[in-house]
Amino acid sequence: LREKTLVLAKPDAVQRRLVGNIIQRFERRGFRLVAMKLLQVDQGLVDRHYQELRHKPFYPALVTYMTSGPVVAMVWEGYNVVRSTRAMVGDTDSVGTIRGDLSVHISRNVVHASDSVETAQREIGFWFQRDELVDWESRD
Ligand code: CMP
Repeated sequence: LREKTLVLAKPDAVQRRLVGNIIQRFERRGFRLVAMKLLQVDQGLVDRHYQELRHKPFYPALVTYMTSGPVVAMVWEGYNVVRSTRAMVGDTDSVGTIRGDLSVHISRNVVHASDSVETAQREIGFWFQRDELVDWESRD
C-alpha cells in the first residue's frame, strides 16, 4: 500500500510546458505526490540513473537529451503505483497514454517511470534525499 515510484518529466516535457498535464494525470488517478523538484541534471546523475544503458550506441545522445534542460523529478505513492504508472506512461506508439498522447519520438519520450518496486527504491535514492520525501495522508 505504501508502494512508491519515481517519475521524471524529462527536458522535452519541461520545454514543451507539459509538466502540468503529466502531474494532472497522476493526481486524477488518485496517487499521492510525496516528493517533487525541478533540477538541472549533470552527467553523473544520468550515468547512475541509466547505468545499464551506458554501453548502448545511443547513450551519448541520451546524455545530451537528459542534460539539455531541467527535469521535474517526482515520487508518487499508492496501491500498485509502479505497474499502474508504467501502464499510464505507455509506449510512443500507443494511444491514451502519456507517451502516446504527447510524444512521437522513441528517444524524446517525455517521461521516465521506474519499471519495478526494487528499481523504484534504487532510483528514488539517486534523485532524492530521505528528508525530501513527505509522509502525508488526506483527511477528509
Ligand atoms: P526509457 O524507456 O524511459 O529509458 C531508456 C531511455 O533511453 C528511453 O526512455 C529513451 O529516452 C532512450 N532511448 C531508448 N532507445 C533509444 C534510441 N534508439 N535512441 C535514443 N534514445 C533511446
